[in-house]
Amino acid sequence: MRIAVIGTGYVGLVAGACFADLGNSVICVDIDRKKIHSLENGVIPIYEPGLGDLVKRNLSEKRLSFTTDTAKAVKGSDIIFIAVGTPQADDGKADLKYVMQAAEDIGRNMGSWKIVVDKSTVPVGTSEKVRAMVEKASKGKFRVSVVSNPEFLREGSAVKDFLAPDRVVIGSADPEAARAVADLYRPLDCEVLVTSPESAEMIKYASNAFLATKISFINEVAAICEKVGADVSEVARGMGLDRRIGRHFLNAGSGYGGSCFPKDVKALQRTAHEAGYDFVLLRGTEMINSMQKTIAVRKLKAELGSLNGKKIALLGLAFKPDTDDMREAPSIEIVEALRREKADFVAVDPVAEENAKKILGKINFAKDVYSAADGADAIVLVTEWNEFLELDFARVGRAMKSKLVVDARNCLDSAKLRALGFKYIGVGRQ
Ligand code: UDX
Repeated sequence: MRIAVIGTGYVGLVAGACFADLGNSVICVDIDRKKIHSLENGVIPIYEPGLGDLVKRNLSEKRLSFTTDTAKAVKGSDIIFIAVGTPQADDGKADLKYVMQAAEDIGRNMGSWKIVVDKSTVPVGTSEKVRAMVEKASKGKFRVSVVSNPEFLREGSAVKDFLAPDRVVIGSADPEAARAVADLYRPLDCEVLVTSPESAEMIKYASNAFLATKISFINEVAAICEKVGADVSEVARGMGLDRRIGRHFLNAGSGYGGSCFPKDVKALQRTAHEAGYDFVLLRGTEMINSMQKTIAVRKLKAELGSLNGKKIALLGLAFKPDTDDMREAPSIEIVEALRREKADFVAVDPVAEENAKKILGKINFAKDVYSAADGADAIVLVTEWNEFLELDFARVGRAMKSKLVVDARNCLDSAKLRALGFKYIGVGRQ
């Protein structure tokens, strides 16, 4: 099948490279010339395990190409994916200007029947708006079929998630178009669910809002565990063994961040509000998450009193491991709080340093955890990178002024650290 993908962000690039790997001829479009130039040379602009190799292999085997020429990409394809950004507008809703621009570009250049697939996360009803825009821009000369096919990719495991999904959701009022898009996923061993466009759009928001709520729920359970002498990790394990609940997304910590959960929780509330409904539960989900982000700083203050001049080492800044993404990362609010407290902090992150500087301005970085720990009053584990779990903590402890660890992700071995003389403080643990 000849496929075009408009937008080479996380979603577009992963989808484009994976569809090419499944044997399709894929052309990826972006307006950013510099980005397209480096992609043509196999250099990918984001940190995503496995993606670089996939792009290089499919480029060299000529199934994947890149262009800034939307007209060429649209004309030469049967199925066109829209995978552009939907940033959050001031009112909490998704801003559709890039989606609608892509729809207009498709309409102006189509020349024959095209299947337009929306992969961007968009409010319920967007499918119809996209169809109307393509039709208007093409002056109604050609048949237009619109399909909603939301993505469920996690940063850090996006390629794996694409090639081994739990499910593929396809929403369309046009059964022929839905079948054509479903066929693209046929090589994958997974359930393909065909729905109305409205349901497909809703499935995306409802899934992310539910997962965010699951995280806020366990974070509140953690707060109670601290008060009553229970351990939230044991509680989550016990809850998760019930298949109706499931073990995933029950890790208490500093709350959720990233490009999707915060935005989608807001957008679904907005959709509900516009439909005359107050989504009470999601207000709680957000409120808990915003308190949770700075829990590490409250724990530091409870132990050290004033943080003025105290040396704090921050382990990790990215919103989660295996990504350089800093969007809505808890570290942003932790750094702001430490600045307010006039603490003397230093950070280490394996890949997010450059992005962190763009958001946080000037901050001190250490070359590794051992030098960050040198003379520190405390270390705070902010992001659970694997390499932080395998540290020589005896050496870390020797470098520190006082052996205090705040584990904001509950990922360190508390018994081992205590045996080494550390004071260990987790989230929802004794
Ligand atoms: C998410 C969704 O999982 C994906 O399906 C969607 O399409 C895009 O958004 P992503 O943002 O990459 O993916 O990250 P994810 O791994 O889902 O984690 C989201 C946030 O929740 C992170 O900040 C993570 O640290 C936090 N989290 C996750 C927890 O605090 N506890 C958990 O148990 C799981």
